[in-house]
Amino acid sequence: MYRDPVQSFQPEHQVPASLRPLRVGMIGIGTVGAGTFRVLRRNQADIVARTGRGIEIVIVAARQLGRAAEIVGDTGVTLTDDPLLVATHPGIDVVVEVAGGTGPARDWVLAAIAHGKHVVTANKALLAVHGAEILDAARRRGVAVAYEGAVAVSIPIVKALREGLAANRIEWVAGIINGTSNFILSRMRDEALDFDTALAQAQALGYAEADPAFDVEGTDAGHKLSLLAANAFGMPIRFADAQVEGITGLSRLDVACAEQLGYRVKLLGIARRQAHGVELRVQPALLPATHLLAQVHGSMNGVMVKGDAAGITMYYGAGAGSEQTASAVIADLVDIARLDCTRAAQRVPHLGFQAHAVRDLPVLPRADVCGAHYLRIPVADAGQAEAMANWLAARQVPVRRVALADAQPGIGPQVLVLTETVVQADLDQAVQALHAHPALAGRVTTLRVEDWMA
Ligand code: HSE
Repeated sequence: MYRDPVQSFQPEHQVPASLRPLRVGMIGIGTVGAGTFRVLRRNQADIVARTGRGIEIVIVAARQLGRAAEIVGDTGVTLTDDPLLVATHPGIDVVVEVAGGTGPARDWVLAAIAHGKHVVTANKALLAVHGAEILDAARRRGVAVAYEGAVAVSIPIVKALREGLAANRIEWVAGIINGTSNFILSRMRDEALDFDTALAQAQALGYAEADPAFDVEGTDAGHKLSLLAANAFGMPIRFADAQVEGITGLSRLDVACAEQLGYRVKLLGIARRQAHGVELRVQPALLPATHLLAQVHGSMNGVMVKGDAAGITMYYGAGAGSEQTASAVIADLVDIARLDCTRAAQRVPHLGFQAHAVRDLPVLPRADVCGAHYLRIPVADAGQAEAMANWLAARQVPVRRVALADAQPGIGPQVLVLTETVVQADLDQAVQALHAHPALAGRVTTLRVEDWMA
């Protein structure tokens, strides 16, 4: 029978106030699993408000049960050392696979699908190698396989391609999608570190794969690129066909020469639609130093997408990390939770979903906002710079940096000040008082310094 979608729309009061929580079994509780556990608990109230139901980890499979017990504490989560028990558990709706590897992980994921579970994974190698088989099994069983955490972890690039850019014919996707290689290149350039020292630092910081050859030889970026291309162009996952080159053969001299010419060397993954096929390649390449992707430093990732309607859009964020990956894993869980329920308010952002505590937060008045500031102070005598800084510091405005502006014809000496973080009311008071200072030769200019967006 035809149901008019508008007539059959259920107003809010007819929808059950709460559905039972989505029940999750997790395989692996290492860096990503522990982050997922932590963030889910910390932000549960907001997640419920946005999703319309809870998300509850019921059972976890771990290699080291003692360590897992420390992470889950007294939350009542069942622990096991048998991943298949999780994959086939009758009491769960979704399996989160964050153990890594391609052999056993394939068996666990296929078992979960065969048992009618949705799957969320951050395992790019698994999907790059066995994705066709896994996605086909999921399609036949009618379950979802979600993998936002597998590509440029904190950046919701899969969702951007599937949702935000769904109207577009994607022309190309290009990005810095391996944090470890980008970290090494940045350290080699900025601190003149040698390759091995920079790699050791990336490993110590937890960015690198268990086998770091995956990072520096371009394999990891190739895995991610093949997933991006599949999403962008609707093509199968073609990792085996990708052209993959890493940064191991790159010489510091070439990095320096490129710099001299105004370029920066970055390991880029590029998927580009051409008339007769798709370019799929990972390579170290020269980018103009002013290009947005050239500003992506350290372990950060950046992805640029060209769509025929939206034009170029760019996405930037952490490319590795525990909670950074957890953010993506949980976003996939939220999507799956919404498959079975949710009213319109929780599907699209009409802002009916904030947790109560947030709804009641006041907007801060200007006087209470904290931040750093730039001050340009015209003075009669260039020798006043230090005195001005001390004068401000004595009035609750600590100074981070003081300098004299380079001389400009017809313009008197200008003291330039960068403050530490101060309360706006304190700054306003000090600037007002400064206008009565005998050394002043004109009005003081103040501008906010927004250097906290690191
Ligand atoms: N080893 C990966 C990287 C971790 O460095 O980007 C996140 O996929």
